[in-house]
Amino acid sequence: MAHPNFLTTLPLAPKDPILGITEAFQADTNPAKINLGVGVYGDEDGKLPLLHSVSLAEDQLNALKTARGYQPIDGMVRYTRQVQQLVFGADCPALIQRRLVTAQSLGGTGALKLGADLLRSFSPQSEVWISNPSWENHRALFEAAGFTVRAYPYYQAERHGLDFEGLVQTIDQAPSGTILVLHACCHNPTGIDLDDGQWHQVRQIILRRGLIPFLDLAYQGFSQGTQEDARQVREFTELGIPVLVANSFSKSFSLYGERVGALSIVCTSSDEALRVQSQLKRVIRTNYSSPPTFGASLVATVLEEVTLHELWEKELGAMRQRIKAMRAALVTALKQTLPTHSFDYIAEQRGMFSYSGLSSEQVQRLRQEFSIYAVDSGRICIAALNHKNLERVVEAMTQVMR
Ligand code: LMR
Repeated sequence: MAHPNFLTTLPLAPKDPILGITEAFQADTNPAKINLGVGVYGDEDGKLPLLHSVSLAEDQLNALKTARGYQPIDGMVRYTRQVQQLVFGADCPALIQRRLVTAQSLGGTGALKLGADLLRSFSPQSEVWISNPSWENHRALFEAAGFTVRAYPYYQAERHGLDFEGLVQTIDQAPSGTILVLHACCHNPTGIDLDDGQWHQVRQIILRRGLIPFLDLAYQGFSQGTQEDARQVREFTELGIPVLVANSFSKSFSLYGERVGALSIVCTSSDEALRVQSQLKRVIRTNYSSPPTFGASLVATVLEEVTLHELWEKELGAMRQRIKAMRAALVTALKQTLPTHSFDYIAEQRGMFSYSGLSSEQVQRLRQEFSIYAVDSGRICIAALNHKNLERVVEAMTQVMR
């Protein structure tokens, strides 16, 4: 009898819309190639930095020569404690009242998946609503967890701005129990965030309609500062309803490959928190058992020690300022080469990215004619620009946008 090889009919999966670009970039032999696809910060020399604060913490940890036992299922306690203080603030009522559950995760993506699997297990009828557009992996991730995913309006292409009216009208019709995915700061891909009043309105709708907010905080520190960028998360914790928060240190600590993140769930009582924690541990145990040690040790060490913490804040501030400077330089240069276009919207966007206004055809041309790689949606990574590659990027963008 022939072996029933199920692999013979397995179709080829499409390339990942973001990480697939890195694969194509790496295969490109043009020495002048530039990768503006993935959200990774490069310094003025285009290099991925090893932060000094991280390097000092690494020296400390290496000197300790610690053996590597298993961690608790939900991660390193000293790490999750630091996450709670950084994201929610040391005086957060939910933290003091022991109703904040935090589990170490494999980056921000891992945190989203833990939250998705947990929600799916106790709210299988819920739909997940993400912004249109959203991070390319949101839809795929929540669909992979078994949810139906819909999109609420967010971006108004003609104005290159926020479609707040569309957003409000749509989420105000969401069925009770809908999981609403929101970007806590530095919206990916558009770089357009809600203002305080708009956030307030969204929270009122969430309360009125009985929605479950799931905040994605992958860029804390890249808009205004670590405290300012956590402000909306902290406002949500005051609502008295369950709130999920996925955070990441990939960008803020330049620790992409270590996969350091966390999922936090604000509960309404300490008893509820115990039950949530127990279920979350089951999700983790049946996925990967327990998380790795090294990256979380680095982050915990930096955040715990006052001098390292201050140094890290300074280094993060320098990354933030450099991105802002490159954003301004890009806008100035484009205004000179394409004076009939307005690029003011790029100047107003926040975080690592710009939703540049490039069409997918223009993105293809950038890649084919100039070996410059961007996401098909037109998203470019401003954090990958520097004074050495800016001119070439501006020249190429000018050619394809003219
Ligand atoms: C991005 O949006 O480029 C980053 O969040 C990296 C990733 O995993 O997609």
